[in-house]
Amino acid sequence: MDKKNSLSITDNRTGRTYEVPIENDTIRAMDLRQIRVHDSDFGMMLYDPAFTNTANCKSRITYIDGERGILEYRGYPIEDLAENSTYLETAYLILNGELPSRQELEEWTYQVTHHTLLHENIKKFIDGFRHDAHPMGILISATAALSTYYPQAKSVLDIESRRLQTYRLIGKVITLAAFAYRHSRGLPYVYPCNDLSYTGNFLSMLFRMTESPYKPNPVLEHALDVLFILHADHEQNCSTNAMRSVGSSQADPYVSIAAAAAALYGPLHGGANEAVLRMLSSIGNLERVPDFIRRVKAGETRLMGFGHRVYKNYDPRARVIKRIADQVFEVTGRNPLLNIALELEKIALEDEYFIKRKLYPNVDFYSGLIYQAMGFPVDMFPVLFAIGRTVGWIAQWQEMLTDGEQKIARPRQVYLGVRQRAYVPMEKRPSTMREA
Ligand code: SDX
Repeated sequence: MDKKNSLSITDNRTGRTYEVPIENDTIRAMDLRQIRVHDSDFGMMLYDPAFTNTANCKSRITYIDGERGILEYRGYPIEDLAENSTYLETAYLILNGELPSRQELEEWTYQVTHHTLLHENIKKFIDGFRHDAHPMGILISATAALSTYYPQAKSVLDIESRRLQTYRLIGKVITLAAFAYRHSRGLPYVYPCNDLSYTGNFLSMLFRMTESPYKPNPVLEHALDVLFILHADHEQNCSTNAMRSVGSSQADPYVSIAAAAAALYGPLHGGANEAVLRMLSSIGNLERVPDFIRRVKAGETRLMGFGHRVYKNYDPRARVIKRIADQVFEVTGRNPLLNIALELEKIALEDEYFIKRKLYPNVDFYSGLIYQAMGFPVDMFPVLFAIGRTVGWIAQWQEMLTDGEQKIARPRQVYLGVRQRAYVPMEKRPSTMREA
């Protein structure tokens, strides 16, 4: 072993020293199991609730530097992709590792475009939801339901099957999302129009009101396409971890994505953009901002859209979104809640409570303002996040499946409960109800 590239760990309980190799600035948790007091011991483990300092995979998809506020997809800075690329082109890059040639992009776009249709029965499935069903609940359920239409998707180790499911998932997620929205509005479903761009097609399925072809506003179409780029992947976030974990049992990609979307739905994750708008609306005006900040610092509530497990600097995506907001508001009119958001940011960036905790605006802080200005109801916001993230979930899933070091995810635990208790017959139990 290269002594210079290793840890020397001394167990003071036994005085024994162990040499543990360092690779990629990490040590293998399994190398700790040799550390025991008695030979019969299980051996040392790492204890890391919520994986705050644990790498569970090697990846070549997305690089984040939290301190410097850097985000790259396959080595390309997010700012360059937002400026120059399209969502489908970026999706190809994330999945395949390289930007496509013109011909590759045309073939990729053709395949995704020609997989936007849903089986007609899915409409009956969506019709079964209440009118006020949250569209994330519909999206998660309908994505899992798609698993029953494509049983061959269970061949997760077959590259051709993965490729076909990839076309279907990226193609159909916008149709599912649009159908969920139309259902909530009591409007007829609008079928995909293959003459439009991916994002234009989505806008058409959402907002077309008559048989005349839908012409998306180019500024809004581009803004939403960039937002999909910004949400496309983000290394080992909560929902991607769910995708990798569920996928590691070789469940099919539809139910794995349903699990990932379920994780995204939480207000601490992709549900934060919805929570931000509800927060801004509840504050209501600039005069009430100082009292809200006071309540946050008192621990009574959280400043949704602020803070991040990795970024301890400004989320680079939030910076791009702020620029897009100006373009959108040129078309839609300025969202009045923007003034409250800007005031919250101004105060938070100067206040010791947020500075000490390195709390900066994240991707969710401004995105909702754009979505609302574009006409989306607040409960559609996490659905829009899920559309962008679908390609990231798939790319991480296929990287997991093709990584020889990966197998079914099954963490360990530290057991602190009671042991070896004898069963107590009912007549011998205390009659009072214990505190749960
Ligand atoms: C996304 O992981 C990803 O990459 C996610 C994502 C992606 O692209 O996939 O980037 C998308 O999910 C962005 C995050 C959206 N969530 C929110 O905006 C919800 C509000 N933010 C937080 O709840 C929180 O910041 C998290 C969940 C994002 C991160 O939480 P951590 O890393 O577990 O941090 P923590 O909860 O341990 O907080 C550390 C301290 C605590 O204070 P103390 O207990 O030390 O006094 O900071 C405080 C927290 O109370 N804190 C906040 C806060 N976020 C953290 N205080 C007020 N407002 C906040 N938003």
